[in-house]
Amino acid sequence: MEEVILVEQSLKLTGEVHLSGAKNAVLVIMASLLLVKGKSILKNVPHSADVDQMSKLLESLGAIVKFDAAMHTLEVDATNVENYSIDHGAMRKMRASVLVMGPLLARLGKIALTYPGGCVLGKRPIDYHIKNFKRMGVTIHEDDNFLTAVTDCLQARRLVLEYPSVGATENILMAATLTTGVTEIVNAALEPEVIDLIDALRKMGARIEFKSPATILIEGVSKLNPIEHTIICDRLEAGTFLLAAAVTGGEIFIPEIDPGIMDVFLLKLEEMGHIVKSGAGVGGIAFKAARYPRAVSFKTAPYPGFPTDLQAPMMVAQCLAEGESTIEEFVYENRLMHAQELLKLGAQIKVGGHTANVTGVSELYGADVVATDIRAAAALAIAGLAAHGCTVISGVNHFRRGYDQLDVKLQALGAKINIMHSDSLKLKHSKWAREELL
Ligand code: EPZ
Repeated sequence: MEEVILVEQSLKLTGEVHLSGAKNAVLVIMASLLLVKGKSILKNVPHSADVDQMSKLLESLGAIVKFDAAMHTLEVDATNVENYSIDHGAMRKMRASVLVMGPLLARLGKIALTYPGGCVLGKRPIDYHIKNFKRMGVTIHEDDNFLTAVTDCLQARRLVLEYPSVGATENILMAATLTTGVTEIVNAALEPEVIDLIDALRKMGARIEFKSPATILIEGVSKLNPIEHTIICDRLEAGTFLLAAAVTGGEIFIPEIDPGIMDVFLLKLEEMGHIVKSGAGVGGIAFKAARYPRAVSFKTAPYPGFPTDLQAPMMVAQCLAEGESTIEEFVYENRLMHAQELLKLGAQIKVGGHTANVTGVSELYGADVVATDIRAAAALAIAGLAAHGCTVISGVNHFRRGYDQLDVKLQALGAKINIMHSDSLKLKHSKWAREELL
């Protein structure tokens, strides 16, 4: 029986919200633990479907994984890792599975996998990963969609990324930590989640330095040691809460986030007229929604530009702002599908190529919509909070993949949002309807 997310118009989200660990940091750091013959401990780990999936993948390779969901603590003992074949299901379910490639090449000298499924965002190839592993002395055999990579000895090279790919940077980085010599990654991705990975690798004993403008230098060592590491807070979850408050005229406080990793996004919120307080004396971000927000335009870019993973939720805020907004998605070839779903709620959006032109409207109206990816699910939930009546969102798996109880955290701020089986929709809806009448 299908589960859906039922969202009812919820005015003025208010209160303090605590963030989970960042999905895009914890997945790669879990993969990096394959570099260590020993038991490591990760803290502030979100309990999400993707973390469960990565845990299963590590176990399939021979690691012992224990997750205390209540304490958000994960133990990974990668002492006995001999298997190098990634099962097809893992690759199909989660693209981040490709992040075990670098660690396995460094540890075992081989890996067999199927290409990660393209997804709705586009082809999402791994050619930058492959090209650079070949430069490091890896022999790649490909047939249809199976890929085997083998190396007797990884070689340190000066590697130039044609695009600052997060995954390619992370995969090469992890392989280079145990590669004799100095590996250089030029035009590297420097997202906060990449930096958290580097912090974890340095704790293991890796020798990693930065060189301007965006170069990472890694001097290989012979052995890495088990660590205890706390995952950074999720800036994308923080952005989701801020936008939920923005569209409901709310006022929230997020104590744990470092505003310094969200500058462009926060700049855009301020340009809309919202009040964003941070820095000395605030400790985190204090946010108060503008009564009549102004529409702003923005384009997505690699960090520190506007994060593509906040593009969909930010589009919702433009749908309800005064004026016109031009949104340009430059990171993915096809990450504007949520616009079609927002049109069902009464938004005014014209999509052409990489660009969405939004004309703000004063009201949205609840409807049945479909989430196409993790961030589209968050965006539709935010839209449902502002829309009159009920919005029913299918594609709950996306919501569960990317967040740890986002619905529960939103409820604590006053949101009427529930994940339920589709057949109990009627009961819940009538209960809220009765409450409205009281
Ligand atoms: C990471 O994906 C994140 N996922 C994504 O978050 C995020 O959107 C993306 O970085 C950009 O910030 C994780 O960290 C698990 P890329 P990744 O390599 O590493 C193209 C979310 O919602 N490309 O920087 O796959 C690619 O198709 C997810 O949390 C190639 O062409 O991103 C895309 O258009 C979605 N060839 C662009 O580069 C390659 O070999 C950026 O990809 C690799 C990538």
